Amino acid sequence: MRKPIIAGNWKMNKTAAECRELITALAPKVKDATCDVVVCVPFTDIALAAELTKNTNIAVGAQNIAWADSGAFTGEISAAMLIEAGAEYVIIGHSERRQYFGETDESVNKRLTQALKNGLKPILCVGEMLAEREGGLTEKVCRTQVVGAFDKISASDAEKVVIAYEPVWAIGTGKTATDEQANETIGFIRSVVKELYGAKVADGMRIQYGGSMNAKNVAGLMAQSEIDGGLIGGASLKADDFSIIVGAAK
Ligand code: 13P
Repeated sequence: MRKPIIAGNWKMNKTAAECRELITALAPKVKDATCDVVVCVPFTDIALAAELTKNTNIAVGAQNIAWADSGAFTGEISAAMLIEAGAEYVIIGHSERRQYFGETDESVNKRLTQALKNGLKPILCVGEMLAEREGGLTEKVCRTQVVGAFDKISASDAEKVVIAYEPVWAIGTGKTATDEQANETIGFIRSVVKELYGAKVADGMRIQYGGSMNAKNVAGLMAQSEIDGGLIGGASLKADDFSIIVGAAK
């Protein structure tokens, strides 16, 4: 049995004051959750979020991590900095990083390696663009991204990773993959993990769906056999919506 994991990806939203407001409202609403609950906040909110979630069942995550320990990497943030601030999880390879900031399978692999080396729990994002889905390339793209991300990563490290399948065309568009589409592609991703690491790692690996997941469509998605939770953007910015999603992930 895989324990579902619901993670909010706040993206570039919420100042510290807004972070305080949201977490203060959210914590009592999700306190009885039976899934893992994570909020992946902007770097400047991590320490505050960690403070506010102390003695709650909410874990804090970041949205990126540098592949190096320290040094001349302007604009990057190190594992030690994230851990000191109170991050437990880190999103790696989000499609927005791939699209707008030049992230590649190779850089994703380096960041994933660094997160694992430092004991941060990675949420690895993969997913196809609209043209790729329409061109029948969904499985090819997901396979390439998964194989690339896990290059030279051991099975004992791989099993600590959560994968988020996020079809790019469903992100922020209000257009969700159908329950069946999401389930099918996540099942495919699990089969790639099985090829790489065997059945035990594949069966234990939690694979989330992400892309316009909300309070209305969460039940249908979570009812699918392969879907172990969600990575939620827009709907994670409101305590009511996010807590409904958390409540639906049993
Ligand atoms: P939305 O839920 O806003 O579509 O964003 C999904 C996402 O990108 C989460 O990482």
